[in-house]
Amino acid sequence: MKFTTTAILTALYSSVSYTSTAWTTTSSIRSMSNTNLRMSTTEETTASSNVYTFAKSEEIFAEAQTLMPGGVSSPVRAFKSVGGNPVVFDRVKGAYAWDVDGNQYIDYVGTWGPAIIGHADDAVLDSIKATMDKGTSFGAPCALENELAKMVIAAVPSVDMVRFCNSGTEACMGMIRLCRAYTNREKVIKFEGCYHGHADSFLVQAGSGVATLGLPDSPGVPKSATAATLCAEYNNLESVKTILEENKDEIAAIILEPVVGNSGFIRPTPEFLQGLRDLATENGAVLVFDEVMTGFRVSYGGAQEYFGVTPDITTMGKVIGGGLPVGAYGGKKEIMELVAPAGPMYQAGTLSGNPLAMTAGIETLKRLSAPGVHKELERMSQMLVDGVIAAGKKHGHAMCGGTAGGMFGWYFCEGPVYNFADASANSDLEKFGKWHRLMLERGVYLAPSQYEAGFMSMTHTEEDIQKTIAIADEVLGLLAAE
Ligand SMILES: Cc1ncc(COP(=O)(O)O)c(C=O)c1O
Repeated sequence: MKFTTTAILTALYSSVSYTSTAWTTTSSIRSMSNTNLRMSTTEETTASSNVYTFAKSEEIFAEAQTLMPGGVSSPVRAFKSVGGNPVVFDRVKGAYAWDVDGNQYIDYVGTWGPAIIGHADDAVLDSIKATMDKGTSFGAPCALENELAKMVIAAVPSVDMVRFCNSGTEACMGMIRLCRAYTNREKVIKFEGCYHGHADSFLVQAGSGVATLGLPDSPGVPKSATAATLCAEYNNLESVKTILEENKDEIAAIILEPVVGNSGFIRPTPEFLQGLRDLATENGAVLVFDEVMTGFRVSYGGAQEYFGVTPDITTMGKVIGGGLPVGAYGGKKEIMELVAPAGPMYQAGTLSGNPLAMTAGIETLKRLSAPGVHKELERMSQMLVDGVIAAGKKHGHAMCGGTAGGMFGWYFCEGPVYNFADASANSDLEKFGKWHRLMLERGVYLAPSQYEAGFMSMTHTEEDIQKTIAIADEVLGLLAAE
């Protein structure tokens, strides 16, 4: 029995629109397709790979859907935009993840960025265990906060003082209030496709999960909450100038991802960041780099160090928590001293600065600060992106992509992609969905959305990269044969 690739892919992807109630049907179609794909691969290509099956994941996820909205604790994890159900993880180590069916993956999601030194690093785990013996939360000052604060202040050019909180969303909520308090202005400029967490005022053209789900804005966000949020186009200084002219002396802040990771991966043009720096200064607005994703990832000092442009305020998260919940915002002393209790701008948190997260962050940064780490991360990221794009071109696919330190991405379009409009107008999302599933079934775990970046870790090896490229070659060949 031999199925054509097209028939297999049609069967495979006709299953993705099934809802939770039909999961067994979906599951059986997929496992039939998996078998067929394995046969097809063995017969038609030399680079055959074992194609995974996901019976236990399917079972657990079916139950999860009855217990939690969409079966997940954060939307993108549900794989809605790529089709099929997510795999359920059992454990992670280094560059790898294992699901509950025992399938092993080369992981390029890295728990969405924090796992830059590799998952479950022994030194980090040992330190967390040692701290845990003293308790899990103090709700009182602890010396570990000073230690992590000193590391952050030493590394990030814009940061003289820092406030720790529990997530990137919280950091951005504190940051926007601080910008408004400092300038005594209300309006802010953000950029289409940039994500700054799920606070009401940022859920405008917000990229990431919001774009993935086709929800440019979310119901439940009062109009009044977003009325002061003005959207400009990324890499387009003119669009910023226009807003500044139309809202003279009213803009509190210009807020952006200095490298976009929430519309897929987009680098700023050389003149864009410096242009924003100049415009913010000229207009009395605070320039904010949201480095929740890029901080300590594109270089040790973040995107501001990588590109040599210093904002007034920086938000952080992910890497500085070493895999535990953390967020932070920091900036010039004169601005940060407005934050309570030093100043009147209120922001607080029961678990903020908790000893476990501080410990994981400290140990992670110690490892990450070794010389040459980020150069190596970029070399590996570039090797991966070049290899995958070359495989795509070989099989006749339009593809483009890029890297910055340990962050990377590619689109199924010719490119270049300068902003969210380019990404959403040109990239082939259907192809991305198929690509994602076929890579997953062969042991490569990629972000389940075209609108997310990829993350390299210190534990990925050249062998992992070459294996990923070989699998990509096979998958892109299958897609070309459709
Ligand atoms: C740039 C940026 N800002 C803010 C956030 C929100 O962070 P968190 O998910 O920790 O709330 C994210 C999350 O991915 C992000 O990428």
